[in-house]
Amino acid sequence: MNAVMNVPDYVVNRKAIAWIKEIAELCQPEAIHWCDGSQEEYDRLCAQMVESGTFRKLNPQLRPNSFLALSDPSDVARVEDRTFICSTRKQDAGPNNNWVDPREMKAKLTGLFKGCMKGRTLYVIPFSMGPLGSPIAHIGIELSDSPYVATNMRIMTRMGRAVWDVLGDKEFVPCLHSVGMPLEPGQKDVPWPCNKTDKYIVHFPEERAIWSFGSGYGGNALLGKKCFALRIASCMARDEGWLAEHMLILGVEAPDGEKTYVAAAFPSACGKTNFAMLQVPERFQGYKVTTVGDDIAWIKPGPDGRLYAINPEAGFFGVAPGTGMKSNANAMLSMKENTIFTNVALTPEGDVWWEGMTEEVPEQLTDWQGNPWTKDCGRKAAHPNSRFTAPARQCPSIDPAWEDPAGVPISAFVFGGRRATTVPLVVQSVNWNFGVYTAATIGSEMTAAAAGNIGEVRRDPFAMLPFCGYHMGDYFNHWLQLGRMIKNPPRIFCVNWFRKDQDGKFVWPGYSENMRVLKWIVDRVHGRAYAAESPLGWIPRPEDLDIEGMDGFTKENFCQAMTIKRDEWRHEILLHEELFEKLYDRLPKEFFHMRQLLLSALWRSPSSLGLAPER
Ligand code: OXD
Ligand code: MN
Repeated sequence: MNAVMNVPDYVVNRKAIAWIKEIAELCQPEAIHWCDGSQEEYDRLCAQMVESGTFRKLNPQLRPNSFLALSDPSDVARVEDRTFICSTRKQDAGPNNNWVDPREMKAKLTGLFKGCMKGRTLYVIPFSMGPLGSPIAHIGIELSDSPYVATNMRIMTRMGRAVWDVLGDKEFVPCLHSVGMPLEPGQKDVPWPCNKTDKYIVHFPEERAIWSFGSGYGGNALLGKKCFALRIASCMARDEGWLAEHMLILGVEAPDGEKTYVAAAFPSACGKTNFAMLQVPERFQGYKVTTVGDDIAWIKPGPDGRLYAINPEAGFFGVAPGTGMKSNANAMLSMKENTIFTNVALTPEGDVWWEGMTEEVPEQLTDWQGNPWTKDCGRKAAHPNSRFTAPARQCPSIDPAWEDPAGVPISAFVFGGRRATTVPLVVQSVNWNFGVYTAATIGSEMTAAAAGNIGEVRRDPFAMLPFCGYHMGDYFNHWLQLGRMIKNPPRIFCVNWFRKDQDGKFVWPGYSENMRVLKWIVDRVHGRAYAAESPLGWIPRPEDLDIEGMDGFTKENFCQAMTIKRDEWRHEILLHEELFEKLYDRLPKEFFHMRQLLLSALWRSPSSLGLAPER
């Protein structure tokens, strides 16, 4: 080993020390840096990355203490086909995951990790998912050769020395990461090191360990996020009777002070951050929407029979394109300083820009690949999956209870996808089990957040398809079982903001106007709002959901957004069958009955449930 271990005296965890020593011997870094999480350390790492070309410092007048990183063009999104769940038995990973025998995978990865940190520093990054010391929180230690990861982890998690004090000699999740590009003596580094041919994002669920090789980007590299807080945590949750979900958490405060918390699951890049930070329109003056989290929820049953949720993260790793003062002022204000931007464009003044940030498009920019860009060049200035990493505490709409170690009580779960047809604006499931069925069968058009065919509809149960660390059939059973255990389960709703008309235009305006749907949901939860029965569940009639004062949006438009067409649904249910076949061995038997009930309900209803205003 080249590097000296130099274990700080506050580190007492014997397992951690032994593991770090073993990894240092394997990966052969030039130095080891024990992150203390301080501002001084963060500033030093950022300055070092400016020096190495990984970061560009943004104009401090326009964007104080903020940086821009441009990744290698081959390393821009999560790589689902290189992501593995290596459980001991293949059946436990399920058909929803790539699987390789853990012994085989370890042998392969040990070969790749051997000497992979040569010429680099190994950063020891202790972090807590959830408020430090909270009974719901869990601790991980990431070993990474990327200073980009170390700085992002300081924003996204509670990272630093205090974690060791809370950890003592207890259990932690070991997270090993390398960009997979050793430096030979004298070899010059590149601004964004990664391995262009070999990428492996690997989880060992029984051991609760993560090994990630070859990518420096987002969910592939910031291992507290998707790898730990979803894939590994979903296995912990299954074993311990709680939920680790791909959900935002928001609070709705009514004018009389009543507070209702809602958790909502949407696939990646479908507007979770916007919904979590919803700007209340004029019409709902007196209401406030507050943000607890924008991506992940850990949810546990409380003593009163309700479910309580925490946001295990401390920052937002949000999709930049489409985010502007009009669409999401809270997100824009969250990133006004102390932010790391990745793969957005640079303005001549030294600030950032991306498509949708301002109505006016700048004449000239440097694009996300570092090339000159002009307004009419026909290329996107920012990558569609470009991101901002911003501290959650900077969000103007952050909920006062966002760091409450006990979590916030959840009254409603909302599930959604991106569907141009078929799925109505909002439906309330008639009960928990139907809600689970609906969430399990959600489909969505693919976005740029993962490498794949953009626009193609795929089933994305609970928006968890890329993130469930075990067999999806077992996951559905876990949800059903939880419903049997808790006395006061949240109500379940399904929404679709993305329906289009014959001309390809969105029927529902979305963004702030989603408050109208949210208010109906909150009122349903409190038993105040009316609804009509439909084959899919309870739906609002035009008079049940407030559409007053919506510029140019008529009752007819509302009916269009709510239409349930029998033929489309027959086809949709055939697609449910496809999903069920894949998961057949462990699919809850209840689902077959629910599918039958749904079919017969559709058969009985008129061919198109437009709920025309005169009905
Ligand atoms: C994310 C994702 O980064 O879901 O949140 O891809
Ligand atoms: Mn996500």
